[in-house]
Amino acid sequence: MGSGAGERGWAERRPVLFPFLLSLFCLALSEQIRYRIPEEMPEGSVVGNLAKDLRLSVHELPTRKLRVSSEKPYFTVRSESGELLVSSRLDREQICGKKPACALEFEAVAENPLNFYHVNVEIEDVNDHTPKFTQNSFELQISESTKPGARFILGSAHDADIGTNSLQNYQLSPDDHFSLVIKEKLDGSKYPELVLKTPLDREEQTSYHLTLMALDFGDPPLSSTAQIQVLVTDANDNPPVFSQELYRVELPENVLPGTTLLRVMATDQDEGVNAEITFCFTEAGQITQFDLNSHTGEITLLNALDFEEVKEYSIVLEAKDGGGMIAQCTVEIEVLDINDNVPEVIFQSLPDLIMEDTKLGTHIALLKIRDKDSGHNGEVICKLEGDVPFKILNISRNTYKLVTDGVLDREQTPEYNITITATDRGKPPLSSSSSKTLHIGDVNDNMPVFEQASYVVHVAENNPPGTSITQVRALDPDLGPNGHVSYSIVASDLEPSTLWSYVSVSAQSGVVFAQRAFDHEQLRAFELTLQARDHGSPALSANVSLRVLVGDRNDNAPRVLYPALGPDGSALFDTVPRAAQPGYLVTKVVAVDADSGHNAWLSYHVLQASEPGLFSVGLRTGEVRTARALGDRDAARQRLLVAVRDGGQPPLSATATLLLVFADSLQEALPDLSDHPEPTDPQAELQFYLVVALALISVLFLLAVILAVALHLRRSSSPAAWGCFQPGVCVKSGPVVPPSYSEGTLPYSYNLCVAHTGKTEFNFLKCNEQLSSGQDILCGDSSGALFPLCNSSESASHQVSFLKPRPTRTGVSPRPRDPAPADPKMAMKPAPGPTTSLTQRCCKP
Ligand SMILES: *[C@@H]1O[C@H](CO)[C@@H](O)[C@H](O)[C@H]1NC(C)=O
Ligand SMILES: *[C@@H]1O[C@H](CO)[C@@H](O)[C@H](O)[C@H]1NC(C)=O
Ligand SMILES: *[C@@H]1O[C@H](CO)[C@@H](O)[C@H](O)[C@H]1NC(C)=O
Repeated sequence: MGSGAGERGWAERRPVLFPFLLSLFCLALSEQIRYRIPEEMPEGSVVGNLAKDLRLSVHELPTRKLRVSSEKPYFTVRSESGELLVSSRLDREQICGKKPACALEFEAVAENPLNFYHVNVEIEDVNDHTPKFTQNSFELQISESTKPGARFILGSAHDADIGTNSLQNYQLSPDDHFSLVIKEKLDGSKYPELVLKTPLDREEQTSYHLTLMALDFGDPPLSSTAQIQVLVTDANDNPPVFSQELYRVELPENVLPGTTLLRVMATDQDEGVNAEITFCFTEAGQITQFDLNSHTGEITLLNALDFEEVKEYSIVLEAKDGGGMIAQCTVEIEVLDINDNVPEVIFQSLPDLIMEDTKLGTHIALLKIRDKDSGHNGEVICKLEGDVPFKILNISRNTYKLVTDGVLDREQTPEYNITITATDRGKPPLSSSSSKTLHIGDVNDNMPVFEQASYVVHVAENNPPGTSITQVRALDPDLGPNGHVSYSIVASDLEPSTLWSYVSVSAQSGVVFAQRAFDHEQLRAFELTLQARDHGSPALSANVSLRVLVGDRNDNAPRVLYPALGPDGSALFDTVPRAAQPGYLVTKVVAVDADSGHNAWLSYHVLQASEPGLFSVGLRTGEVRTARALGDRDAARQRLLVAVRDGGQPPLSATATLLLVFADSLQEALPDLSDHPEPTDPQAELQFYLVVALALISVLFLLAVILAVALHLRRSSSPAAWGCFQPGVCVKSGPVVPPSYSEGTLPYSYNLCVAHTGKTEFNFLKCNEQLSSGQDILCGDSSGALFPLCNSSESASHQVSFLKPRPTRTGVSPRPRDPAPADPKMAMKPAPGPTTSLTQRCCKP
């Protein structure tokens, strides 16, 4: 376009504008008329001479009535000169806004003839606006942790002008931390960005003040500023910090649970949640003892402390702020020992039993002393209490051994209570004692002891067999088998083979039993050795002697030896000289009693007499004497019944019938006798003589044999053999007397012999024979067969051998014959030995 040159600065170009516009106008009248004016021209300012540009002359003007036709009356035409004038304010920014080109187009109307002309007024920008920020100040929060180089968009400014008059640049007040970068949007507008140059630290500076200036390139340039407040926000860049890295507490172990031990402190330079600190334990292990208040940091004791268990605690605590930063510290809690533990005594390897023969100093048990305290509180002194045969020896620290220190005797003290007292050296000291019972084991060290040193038992004879006669008892203080005593008989003065038939002892009870009825007349006493033996190993035993005395009972009636009755009941007779003076010893009743003592103390009484007063009987002697001289009226034959009574309770008695014939010779007496007894049968007499002859031969033969044997024995001079033989002897022969007997030196076993001299017969009676069997004793004496023989061979030289000082008499000789004195003791004493066989040999050959 031709107006291109006129687009430049209006002030200088105005003079050349018009010719140029005119030329354009001329070339095409119907074309626009263009003007260019700056905005904001005052009202009435001339834009251009429109009439002239339309080639209208001044004088023509009134007729043509040139005027402007537009919707908005920005312009008017001065009618006198035809000049176009500004009629209202022309603000380019108002009319065109940001459009880069702003033109107002309107019509100019001329009448006569009516013509329309296009007019175009271009309005040029003027720098009439300053750049403006939307706010005077901005606030920007930047975390201190932001890295350098970070950008922050700042609020931009606006400038209504366009082109260079519009906002062209921003400037920032100088600052170390920040710089500015200007960016352009797509529409060309610019905006500033704040760039962080160096790191921020809230803890150093919390805010920065910056000034941002926006400016255009107008002439003169316009600018405005805005304040920027940069607030440095906190980043959790500071960990909590404990007031101490290591906390130390010393606590006595008896601190009560619930006590606050200490308080840990931690600070955090950050703020807000970043400075909110919570505490916790790092390790779970040790927390049972302590409680930590997570907010206050107070550590309290939960459970009681025990120095003996844990001496020191080392706890790591953690402080954590809200941002998760962590710091740690160590809490060391030292537990101080208090003497709170009683020393203990522990017995080790204590045996169940200590044998009583344990040697002095024998190790018995081990003692361990334990005190959990330390130092002096744990030093223990040990003592054995009481007076016991033990002592403790210190082996090492806190170990002792218990040894024997005396003689043990279970029988005296079966158990000991050992009390060990342990005392520590704490202040105050604590002590305890421990007791154990030591049982002493038994050793067979005591032999049985009989309750009596010796036993004497009196047993009355004729006891029932099997009765217990006594009980021996031995005590053994040992225990069990060692003290269990059995009894036995180990020795006796009885025949060993017959011992069992006399006595036995109960092994268990020590009761001694009589196995048979004892007979005082046979066995007066015997002695046993009893043994008590315990069951120990080796067994111990003790002996005691038991003497059994068999007491006498009055079980034997007196036995009349003389006078004896014949087998047919006929009595023997004694002759008394007619001229016998008073006191004449007629005969003697001889009786024996196998009992002893009072039971054998005989007394003689006249029970019945045909002529009372004629004879008297010696109470003790049994001597029958004439009390007065024979009178004429007195019968020649007298009968005297004598009772022999012993002294037993009750007394036993026997009777003897004496036939006394007053005659001066035997022949004189015989008729008396013969007519008195039954008449003899000649047939029977013959038989009798035959039998006597036969018996005589047998006796002679026997004597011969006995003599031969006796001689032989005497040659061998063995008394034992004599003893053996002699009891068997019984001789029935008038003149033949064994030499030994005739000398009156009979063995004492032949105590009593009675000779019936009147009948030329003598009998050796063995006093210890079974007197109960009277037949045996009187053997041949009572035999009726012998009687006639005695009768025929009457001899005054009949010898009677008496061991007992008892008188005898011969029927022929009125003078009694004194027997050979013998040992009275022997006479009273029964001789031992079997007798039954002897009797048989003697009497029934
Ligand atoms: C025990 O013996 C140990 C060493 O053998 C010694 O150190 C300690 O003093 C003894 N204690 C007593 C109480 O005798
Ligand atoms: C030992 O102690 C026990 C129980 O304490 C008691 O029964 C017994 O009699 C005591 N023995 C001695 C010998 O002291
Ligand atoms: C007891 O007597 C028997 C037999 O006589 C003898 O062997 C033994 O040694 C005696 N014992 C004592 C302890 O005397």
